[in-house]
Amino acid sequence: MSVLSGKTIVLGVSGGIAAYKSAELVRLLVNSGAIVRVMMTRNATEFITPLTLQTLSSNPVATDTFSLTQESEIGHIRLADAADAIVIAPATADVIAKAAVGIADDIVTTVLLATRAKVAFAPAMNVHMYEHPTVAENLARLRSRGAVIVDPGEGALACGYEGKGRLADPAIIVAEIEKMLSAQDLAGENILVTAGPTQEPIDAVRFVSNRSSGKMGFAIARAAWRRGAAVRIVAGPSALATPYGVERIDTVTAAAMLSQTSSNFSWSTALVMAAAVADFRPANPARGKIKKDARGLRLEMESIADEMPRLAAKKGARLLIGFAAETGDLEANARAKLTAKGLDLIVANDVTREGAGFEVDTNIVTLIGSDGRSQSHPQMSKDAVADLILDRIAAIRAAKPKSTRAAKSSRLRAVR
Ligand code: CTP
Repeated sequence: MSVLSGKTIVLGVSGGIAAYKSAELVRLLVNSGAIVRVMMTRNATEFITPLTLQTLSSNPVATDTFSLTQESEIGHIRLADAADAIVIAPATADVIAKAAVGIADDIVTTVLLATRAKVAFAPAMNVHMYEHPTVAENLARLRSRGAVIVDPGEGALACGYEGKGRLADPAIIVAEIEKMLSAQDLAGENILVTAGPTQEPIDAVRFVSNRSSGKMGFAIARAAWRRGAAVRIVAGPSALATPYGVERIDTVTAAAMLSQTSSNFSWSTALVMAAAVADFRPANPARGKIKKDARGLRLEMESIADEMPRLAAKKGARLLIGFAAETGDLEANARAKLTAKGLDLIVANDVTREGAGFEVDTNIVTLIGSDGRSQSHPQMSKDAVADLILDRIAAIRAAKPKSTRAAKSSRLRAVR
């Protein structure tokens, strides 16, 4: 279930050319399960019609504070109270200025003044307007009061200029709203995630790999950012898009993945090894392309050392979370790996079960902690599994008495 499921998001559209992109934003919010109520300034209705946004949101659109019919249906105070979050997208220099000083002369600015909900502004305007000190000061003022500012992107602007001022991608705005509505229980954590398969070369054009898609690791990275952590992902070859807010380090071979994991280990406060790292690689990869031979090909494979026990030896207060991809004896094998690798938590999945393991969007997992506690879960989305794993990280941190935490964090600083 998405964070936005059943949440009321009030979208305020102000009058700039980017108003047409609010249609896509409404669609994404509705697809995430949100109840979307749109309000528009009079100028916004010059750029996109209320009917478009009404149709996409399946809710009446408010354009007028004084319209008797609209007031009886969706009074501005009710709109302000019903909102779990308010997002102004696009936010023009004008609406930003009014919100900064508390002017309430239309439906959008009146609701902004009347609400206690969290508010985000996604500015979009000409680059010179965006860089004007007044706009910068107004945005800083809104930010200091707790509003989230979704920075505009750079590029060609509708006014013919190049520069910063394009409305942020609607998917980014949705990610920021999801973050706004999530408990920031991982704030202060630096979470390093490995994800995807590795590729071990046989020759110049062939490699040995596995069926991992990276979906589980990317889901963990996305959820950890949403819950307030700083996140780095060390990815093997994966076609997946980098989750917003996450720093991605691309690798190909197990050696490169493990070396990047080691070099980023000192930055981390928790390492989640979701990658399917190769255990063997061709011992002598050919430089060129191996020619076909009627007698076939024999490959000598060598073992790849597991980095986990070495990292565990210098973990300090860091949390180490591993996965166990099994095809039988799930719990016993996973417990053995938990101990051998020095982990705090292992996420075991039987990759032969339908709806679990590689390539699919769901997983069926058993979480086993170093305290021996084991929890088996039914089939669920990888996004939901990601949150379960992160819940355990948050719970381990919360269980530490404050004094121990302080001592551990100073020890962690010393390790850094
Ligand atoms: N792992 C690792 N380095 C390796 C191999 C695996 O850090 N060279 C990590 C994986 O990312 C995963 C955990 O170890 O978190 C377990 O991986 P898995 O493939 O289930 O087990 P293996 O240790 O490879 O053992 P086996 O192949 O015998 O099941």
